[in-house]
Amino acid sequence: MERIHNFDEPVNRRGTDSKKYNPDLYPADVLPMWIADTDFKSPQPVIDALIARMEQGVYGYPVVSHAFKEAVQYWEKTRFGWEVPTDAVEFVPGVIPGIICAVRALSHPGDNIVIHTPCYPPFKDLSDHNGRHLLRNVLRVEDGQYVIDFADLEEKLSQVRTKIFILCNPQNPTGRVFTREELTRIGKLCLKHHVFVISDEIHCDLIYKGHTHIPFGSISPEFAANSITFVNASKTFNTAGFRTAAFICTNEQVHESVHEAVLDNKGIGENLAGTTATIAAYRECAYYVEQMMDYLEGNLDIVCSGLETIPGIRMIRPEGTYLLWLDCRELGMSQKELNAFFVDKAKLGFNSGTSFGPEGQGFVRMNIATQRTNVEEAMRRMERAVLER
Ligand SMILES: Cc1ncc(COP(=O)(O)O)c(C=O)c1O
Repeated sequence: MERIHNFDEPVNRRGTDSKKYNPDLYPADVLPMWIADTDFKSPQPVIDALIARMEQGVYGYPVVSHAFKEAVQYWEKTRFGWEVPTDAVEFVPGVIPGIICAVRALSHPGDNIVIHTPCYPPFKDLSDHNGRHLLRNVLRVEDGQYVIDFADLEEKLSQVRTKIFILCNPQNPTGRVFTREELTRIGKLCLKHHVFVISDEIHCDLIYKGHTHIPFGSISPEFAANSITFVNASKTFNTAGFRTAAFICTNEQVHESVHEAVLDNKGIGENLAGTTATIAAYRECAYYVEQMMDYLEGNLDIVCSGLETIPGIRMIRPEGTYLLWLDCRELGMSQKELNAFFVDKAKLGFNSGTSFGPEGQGFVRMNIATQRTNVEEAMRRMERAVLER
């Protein structure tokens, strides 16, 4: 019998060391809808596997888990049809720590990293903190969708100091799920200009109907050899607190140099709770993804129809992720005023648009991975605040 997960089940996260519900950030009357985790319980097989492991009672240093690598391999194959050898898979304690190691292993201070913007803030931070220059290929809106400016992309990739392109697919915060054609064009340009691709596919499971996630490395052996992919079960199964992710890299030389950078950083080690959770998630919980995406699609519909009666706030419907990129420019506020408006007047805790780059001016990011009642309440609050302003 197929398992059913109840995404409507209320979960009290206050007082559980949750960053999203941190009372120092937003007062209790603000509905927090910002950082990218969910308010849903992890699937029952994940909880059961963790309890079973914890009951053993001994939590010493773990070895590199072969079962973890096999689980990542199994997920890529069964979900996306991408066949990778287990040897290509490596544990990393989070996608961002892994990308930092890859950036250090594959480029030098002073080199350029190209990225689509608006972009997830740590990409800029990790570039700045490691002395790299971030070149921004701004996503533009065309026919009601974010599209890649390929002429600008090529100009940036062709610069001599450009060594890395960080692909974020599905894209945070616009929710674009890039098509095979777009990915192929990106991949060819990167090969032409000898630019290595770091593909952040952390949101790969969160795809709405009518769209398909294509792992960059699955497109051709040449693309696989010119890329390293990062995944984490955390966005899907709500396990971000375990700091456990993986990279997949079939290019042996690159694999070794990135893995060495990970090992050389002695602050980084395996997490047995994280590998236990990931194995259970990837092996037993495909059902949860299907049901969660149906649920999120319902939440998304509520926001879309709610926005129809809220003047001044627009949204391009995302193709993936549970993150909505709300365009509030017509409200005519500075970013500071906009942020204050949502917290003080609407009592909603969103991410500020400008943290995603200058293109985010006048935007906020809203996370809808929460119980439907919260999404409905958020839309009521948003409407009231805008109409009363
Ligand atoms: C695109 C993207 N990459 C990476 C991360 C963070 O990954 P991790 O917690 O594994 O470092 C996030 C979290 O929101 C994200 O949206």
